Amino acid sequence: MPSTKEKAKEVLLHNLYEVDLNNNHYRRTVPSREFYIHQWNWDSATHAMGLVHIDPSRAYDEIIALISGQWDNGLIAQITFNPNETKYFPGPKFWNTKQFSHGEISTSGITQPPLLGFSIWYVYQNSPDKKAASEFLSQVLPALKKYHYYLKTFRDPEDSGLLTVVHPWESGLDNSPRWDEPLKNISVDSIPDSVKILVNTYRSDDKIGNNTHRPGLEDYYRYMYLVHLFSEWNWDYTKIITNSPFAVKDILFNSLWALSNEALSSLCSVVGESEDSAYFLKIAHQTSEAIQNQWSDSDSLFLDIDVSRGQHKTISTNTISTFSPLMTSGITPKIIDSLISRLSDPSQYATPYPLPTTSLNNPVFETKRYWRGPTWPITNLFTIIGLHRNRQNPKCLLLRDSLISSTKQMIDSSGFFEYFDPTLGLARPNNQNAAYGFGTFSWTAAIYTLLSQPNLTDLKLPLET
Ligand code: GLC
Repeated sequence: MPSTKEKAKEVLLHNLYEVDLNNNHYRRTVPSREFYIHQWNWDSATHAMGLVHIDPSRAYDEIIALISGQWDNGLIAQITFNPNETKYFPGPKFWNTKQFSHGEISTSGITQPPLLGFSIWYVYQNSPDKKAASEFLSQVLPALKKYHYYLKTFRDPEDSGLLTVVHPWESGLDNSPRWDEPLKNISVDSIPDSVKILVNTYRSDDKIGNNTHRPGLEDYYRYMYLVHLFSEWNWDYTKIITNSPFAVKDILFNSLWALSNEALSSLCSVVGESEDSAYFLKIAHQTSEAIQNQWSDSDSLFLDIDVSRGQHKTISTNTISTFSPLMTSGITPKIIDSLISRLSDPSQYATPYPLPTTSLNNPVFETKRYWRGPTWPITNLFTIIGLHRNRQNPKCLLLRDSLISSTKQMIDSSGFFEYFDPTLGLARPNNQNAAYGFGTFSWTAAIYTLLSQPNLTDLKLPLET
């Protein structure tokens, strides 16, 4: 019987997709052949971190393929499309981004949480062949810097330290209850019929997947309305940031932004670019401080902010994103204690398969609906990184180790699925199914690989090396 670690390798091999574009050969890993048949930004950043332990050249190629569709303004998109696959909705023609395509490589028009910088740093650090790693770094570093300049310029024009996301899909946690209030800014009645007809005709996630687990129809209309608006504005991000009815300072997105800036700063110093290194460190600190200002003592949560059309409304929904600032610098012992007590509370996050993406005692919690409760390996990974960062605190150390083993056990016992029912766990009656979404999932396989590394807990984070 192959071990789960060996099976993880098979999943990542099975999901390899090779394609020739612009006279180059690209190797990408698709999230799942059952539905997600293109390349997703933060999935690929995660795949690369797993792949470096299996076949470093695949990790390099994963990142090279991801940056291949970078726009001239620096955007690295949420989806880079495989031109031979036409089934996925919304595919290239719905985004209307052709004029930004890099030759034959077309993409969506929005981005995803900026895990890329941390991923490139991790791949570089863990590459056994240092010469190959240096070549890889010189090949990808300019694109990473350009992406960070794009994010800083277009997503934080007011220089607040916090980037703005303009679509729930940019948050990566598409259907999180944190977005319920901000999405109310878009009244369904105001959405043109043409957009609704498009969704009614082409939407496929709820047909290929289980529709009771997927986002609701009204939200889907809103998602496609935003795509329609932005394409009407010709993807002019100055205009989008000012006018989008959905514009949020997202805590999880910004925590990854701070971490990836630390990583980028450290990579710049590796190649002797000390001015850039100082700049990216400065903006990492600016973001970490801004995140700390989003801590609410009365809610004991980090709060996102709805900044659409000049508003400033904080969002206090108890979800997993409140733990993501643990990945950033300077979280105070008092805040750490408060987060630890949430993580250890069985009525909130200490469930049989931890960690639910929405607190169990949140009235909007659901066991199976997308991002509204189920456990995802990726959000567990972020919490593990955050606890690791604060490992001088013995409680963080214990929680980190227990979360590593519970995440692995969850995958050992339920397979390489997209997400899991947090309330079921190992001792389920009649071995009831606890795994949902699409199967043979690369994220899950990559994270299993990562969490199986014997020296994982010795990892020194960017500012620690
Ligand atoms: C879904 C998730 C998103 C992920 C993508 C591919 O859209 O919400 O975070 O990147 O699937 O796995």
